[in-house]
Amino acid sequence: MNLLDRKVVTIDALDHQGRGIAHIDNFVIFVFNALVGEQVEIEIAKIKKNIVEAKVIKILKASPERIGSVCPYFKECGGCDLLHMSYQNQLFYKENKVKEIMRKFARLENVVESIVPNDNVYGYRNKVTFQVEEKVGFYGKRSHKIIEIDKCFLIPDIMNEYLSILKRAMNFSFVNQIMMRQSEYEQKMMIVFDVTKEFSNSQVPLNELSNVSVLIKREHNYEVLLGDDFLLEKVGDYIFKISPESFFQVNTKQMEKLYQIVLDHSGLSKGEKVLDLYCGTGTIGIYLSKKANDILGIEMNESAIEDAFWNKKQNCIHNINFMCGDTGSVLKEATFQPDLIVVDPPRAGLDELAISEIKRIHAPKVIYVSCDPVTLARDINRLEQDYEVMTIIPVDMFSNTYHVECVCILKYR
Ligand SMILES: C[S@@+](CC[C@H](N)C(=O)[O-])C[C@H]1O[C@@H](n2cnc3c(N)ncnc32)[C@H](O)[C@@H]1O
Repeated sequence: MNLLDRKVVTIDALDHQGRGIAHIDNFVIFVFNALVGEQVEIEIAKIKKNIVEAKVIKILKASPERIGSVCPYFKECGGCDLLHMSYQNQLFYKENKVKEIMRKFARLENVVESIVPNDNVYGYRNKVTFQVEEKVGFYGKRSHKIIEIDKCFLIPDIMNEYLSILKRAMNFSFVNQIMMRQSEYEQKMMIVFDVTKEFSNSQVPLNELSNVSVLIKREHNYEVLLGDDFLLEKVGDYIFKISPESFFQVNTKQMEKLYQIVLDHSGLSKGEKVLDLYCGTGTIGIYLSKKANDILGIEMNESAIEDAFWNKKQNCIHNINFMCGDTGSVLKEATFQPDLIVVDPPRAGLDELAISEIKRIHAPKVIYVSCDPVTLARDINRLEQDYEVMTIIPVDMFSNTYHVECVCILKYR
């Protein structure tokens, strides 16, 4: 097999990143923009040992699940993976992917519940980061080449409008990235320009931007050009402060459903103690605060911890506290004995120290919120001797991409 060869293949399955899988002789071929059961003519784009990547040249037999992509950049842009797939099929794919990963990597059957759908499959993101290098856009599929875009379908219209204002009014010399975040509650946006030291602030067309905060980020320092250096967002009954460096779920509406699932499965009935690990701005702990007696949140990012203390005060929550530091290291020194541990780590999952500390503490229940089912399965294995999986609820937070969030409920054996 050679680069640029053309072949006709049938797609047998989708991999965990939404690529079609086909086989020719001993080669496994990963095909972008193809669906299960489709017959497609492909062109070989990359060969590494017996793993091959290819792109579709012509669809010879289309799947009934194929829909015309709304986005002209879909084939090149690395932002979306499933825009060509009906939403029902996306849900089926994600739910089955979690089942398959649990079966394969954690030997678990019949624990995965029906996926919770997203009400808005377009325009749902409250945050976007544009890459800038002469062009403004997103990285291409599996590449660092920037695909220039004028409109993204996953972000609200207002962000696309600001993008076009900036593209018209600026030349983007010395800009690395542009981050936009929107608060629905405040009906306001924050724009952060990540720039090199040569950047001149006067380039930013402030008089064309309304209802925004504008910040300039040089290395790790922020300078406010307009408005506040934070946004406020409402989730459930609570208001949360979000600073530019703090993590905040990108889908505000689904975030409320996610936290409600955690609350519903917490089994809390006052009087209990909760550890909220990887707590960010304290959102999950604060959400649980009306049902618990005492909550301790642990988070490494200082800016998020400052926001968490602000959130505690502003929402008049008296039974929560926060500590700043690495989860495992803080737990090693802490004497807090919880009835429930909630963990919500980054994609990499829990490290060895965090796992051994969770085992040592042996709370009756652990709720693991995960944005990567593969690392979730790995951590379920590491906790297996002590904890049994009761149920896993997938939640679609990131429609049109292959990503899926999961809430996993574990009970001490
Ligand atoms: C997926 S976010 C979850 C945040 C929060 N639970 C929420 O729902 O908004 C993961 C958080 O873990 C924090 N983090 C990453 N590594 C950490 C570590 N070793 N110890 C403590 N926090 C960490 C990140 O700064 C981030 O805020």
